[in-house]
Amino acid sequence: MLKVDGLVKYYRKTLAVDGISFTVNDGEIVGLVGPNGAGKTTVLRCVTGIVQMTQGRIEVDGVDLEINEEAVKRLIAFVPEVPSPYEMLTVYEHLRFIAMAYKTLGNFDERAYELMQRFDLYDRRNDFVLSLSKGMKQKLAIACAFVHDARAILLDEPLIGIDPKGAKELKNMILDTKQRKGSVLISTHMLDTAEHLCDRIIIIQKGTIIAEGTLEELHQSAKMGRDASLEDVFLSLTEESKVIEATSVS
Ligand SMILES: Nc1ncnc2c1ncn2[C@@H]1O[C@H](COP(=O)(O)OP(=O)(O)OP(=O)(O)O)[C@@H](O)[C@H]1O
Ligand SMILES: [Mg+2]
Repeated sequence: MLKVDGLVKYYRKTLAVDGISFTVNDGEIVGLVGPNGAGKTTVLRCVTGIVQMTQGRIEVDGVDLEINEEAVKRLIAFVPEVPSPYEMLTVYEHLRFIAMAYKTLGNFDERAYELMQRFDLYDRRNDFVLSLSKGMKQKLAIACAFVHDARAILLDEPLIGIDPKGAKELKNMILDTKQRKGSVLISTHMLDTAEHLCDRIIIIQKGTIIAEGTLEELHQSAKMGRDASLEDVFLSLTEESKVIEATSVS
């Protein structure tokens, strides 16, 4: 289980995340959606320990990030918004390097073979990462996240730039993670995917949560009928929140 409590993040004087709390239960897929600059990437980067939070508490399976950062990092996997793989390794070496870092070399060859097949990287296994296309690098970053059995998987816009087969494989891997009771937190602008894939959605705007729940609960928050799509709900709630803010400022 992933637990975020009162997360605040300032980049110098910019307040990017303003006191966000949520949990992702075991076997749950939660979508993090919000306009550009809402703070989605910042939340994910704080949880992974890539950037240091200003205030708050983050726990994975009861382990506190501030107390035992190394243990938390071992429990999570992260697909960043812009992957920056080691370009002078081959695809196979890169996967092996990540597995070594997580000390999970047990059934590595079998696992790597499966991942490379799933993401159409097997024929490129001996090529340097440098020579891969953008989408292939994205698929390698995804394969790296699944090379070890992380308890919590965080994905930042993972579907951008990958082909339909890659997207389908990723969705299947996410559903497999749910089956084995892992926690998945996925940030995306693809609202139709979020609607179908996620058990719960968190909508953030300007660093705060403006709504969260199942699609049905979000319909109620937006006072919309059951036929409304997540896109309708999202646009209504984010616009409403802007109006409220403008009224309170004036
Ligand atoms: N390294 C940084 N230094 C300073 N400000 C930053 C930095 N990274 C993000 N910010 C600011 O923090 C806020 C939240 O940015 P963040 O990248 O978390 O948004 P996001 O929801 O992921 O947006 P997008 O949908 O465009 O990916 C923005 O105002 C952004 O300009
Ligand atoms: Mg982002």
